[in-house]
Amino acid sequence: MKALCWHGTGDVRVDTVPDPRIQHPRDAIIRITASGICGSDLHLFDGFMPTMEKGDILGHEPMGVVVEVGTEVTNLKKGDRVVVPFTISCGNCYFCNKTLYSCCDNSNPNAEIARKAMGHSPAGLFGFSHMLGGFAGGQAEFLRVPFADVGPLKIDSDLPDEKVLFLSDIFPTGYMAAENCDIEDGDTVAVWGCGPVAQMAIKSAWMLGAGRVIAIDRVPERLQLAQRASKAETINFDNDDVYDRLQEMTKGRGPDCCIDAVGCEAHATGSFDAIMDKAKSAVMLTTDRAHVIREAIKCCRKGGTISVPGAYVGTPDKIPLGAFMNKGLTMKSGQTHMQRYMKPLLQKIEAGEIDPSFIITHRVPLVEAPAAYKTFRDKEDGCIKVVIKP
Ligand SMILES: NC(=O)c1ccc[n+]([C@@H]2O[C@H](COP(=O)([O-])OP(=O)(O)OC[C@H]3O[C@@H](n4cnc5c(N)ncnc54)[C@H](O)[C@@H]3O)[C@@H](O)[C@H]2O)c1
Ligand SMILES: [Zn+2]
Ligand SMILES: [Zn+2]
Repeated sequence: MKALCWHGTGDVRVDTVPDPRIQHPRDAIIRITASGICGSDLHLFDGFMPTMEKGDILGHEPMGVVVEVGTEVTNLKKGDRVVVPFTISCGNCYFCNKTLYSCCDNSNPNAEIARKAMGHSPAGLFGFSHMLGGFAGGQAEFLRVPFADVGPLKIDSDLPDEKVLFLSDIFPTGYMAAENCDIEDGDTVAVWGCGPVAQMAIKSAWMLGAGRVIAIDRVPERLQLAQRASKAETINFDNDDVYDRLQEMTKGRGPDCCIDAVGCEAHATGSFDAIMDKAKSAVMLTTDRAHVIREAIKCCRKGGTISVPGAYVGTPDKIPLGAFMNKGLTMKSGQTHMQRYMKPLLQKIEAGEIDPSFIITHRVPLVEAPAAYKTFRDKEDGCIKVVIKP
């Protein structure tokens, strides 16, 4: 089959690779019909994530049609249409039983590498480095899905792929990010980033009772989309000091909830910490450019909550823990506990409460995926979200 393979920083190619096969009775094989490119893929593309190997197949936002199931998969059959979550979870360990699916104890065969780096291993993820399992991803013609009796969500209606595809990652991710804010009715929620995850977090913040949503980015069409599609107020961080603007907009109190939907590759115009991050990451002295988490701690109101869906990799420095502690802040984070959210959020799509396809700007065949990675990374051509249709 054809698959999009990682070959090094800034180098992904469409290669011919062996078709996936059932390796375990709980596996299924899916023929992919649509697959997103995610901001998380950019961290791999940009060389931020350790333990990638040449030839690794990328992609963790897939959906498609079941072509084969293992003997223990009784909930799916050949021909079923499914959305596959990016987290791989066994469904019956201590963590899965607590619905902390992205913390599954049984799905990462390379757990020991992750344990050494992080103390404990999170769940295995599709297309996301060897430390997180070395699983082939879904930017390909076919995908092997482990624990297929737990992960894939069957789509019984005739909703088109584009309306349900983002149940594979970013809609649940934006929703969990907003839920992690513990929004009280009327709260002001500030969202750093206007990328796909942020756009979903903005919509979700309204659903969960926000009174005001303020979105921060510098890419004009992304800011405009947040305004147009979700009635967010916006701040362009190239033009305004984010701290000053947010305090002004909240009469000096600061936003009640702050969502970091940017993660480890933050940009910042002229700020000292961002210049230091850039210099240090260029010579491999740091793994993350953590400007947004620092800024969110500074901006958040006393006693407020910071929610971090943005992905971090290693041990960034200069995090203002003094402010965090003395202001009495709460921080919540995590890879999304996908299986907890997929069904209820499908119901919201079916009920017409949201159509997540509003962020799609580019649709490409698999052969054009390498060029699409560059367009998405460089935010060229108005690119906000790419869907690959193999
Ligand atoms: N927790 C999870 O389970 C999960 C799932 C999916 C994605 N993610 C992570 O969420 C993050 C966002 O993903 P995405 O697909 O929206 O990515 P994206 O790269 O398209 O969007 C990031 C946005 O942040 C903006 N930005 C950069 N610096 C900024 C700053 N200083 N202030 C405000 N905005 C800034 C960029 O201009 C861009 O629009 C990534 O880190 C990704 O890895 C996490
Ligand atoms: Zn993702
Ligand atoms: Zn588990």
